[in-house]
Amino acid sequence: MMQLKSTTPATFDLFADDAPPLPATEQIGPCSFVFRGFALPMVEPLLPTLEAVLAQAPFRNMVTPGGHIMSVALSSCGEFGWTTDRRGYKYSRIDPQSGQPWPAMPELFLKLAQAAADAAGFADFIPDACLINRYIPGTKMSLHQDKDELGLQWPVVSVSLGIPARFLFGGHARSDATTKVPLFHGDVVVWGGEDRLRYHGVMPIKQAEHAQLGEQRINFTFRKAR
Ligand code: SIN
Ligand code: FE2
Repeated sequence: MMQLKSTTPATFDLFADDAPPLPATEQIGPCSFVFRGFALPMVEPLLPTLEAVLAQAPFRNMVTPGGHIMSVALSSCGEFGWTTDRRGYKYSRIDPQSGQPWPAMPELFLKLAQAAADAAGFADFIPDACLINRYIPGTKMSLHQDKDELGLQWPVVSVSLGIPARFLFGGHARSDATTKVPLFHGDVVVWGGEDRLRYHGVMPIKQAEHAQLGEQRINFTFRKAR
């Protein structure tokens, strides 16, 4: 079960005059950016919103087509959720655990994804899928491509919360060299365009504790699945 320390929901408008300035940007590919602390201004309302989603669709460890149980636990919100089982990977409108549609994508999630995509030069991004991954210390995500989507003209927007990770950003072949990108609470990575199908993954998460999220890292990846 997810343990969140209680936070006070606050209203927040990313576009208000007194909104904080755009945080430092790092370019990691022709169409790929790391926006440091981009999600921080909305973390307070984001966490209880996340809790509400998880109450409807709790984290679970799914099985890969190869029969391995994923160390990273997942949930989803939006029209489509990414799932895996012995038959393969797919996007589904229905949460296989509940038999119900995935929780709707909260407006706040959509706003965050849109603002980050926009900052990377992808205006009008309307993701229909938000995969929510939970990493605990020792878990990792092997190098892979996000290629189960039809909307490959749209970027992937990845939001990191909780304990740090070392994100691996590779090339178009699995064997290509990778760049290690440290990711912290509130950082957002966007990759799209010619970088959309680049291999990426997450190195084993080191033991750490985050003030709000405890011993876990939560990652959202927003995509246009259909
Ligand atoms: C993913 O590729 O699905 C997750 C990336 C991350 O956790 O940073
Ligand atoms: Fe991915």
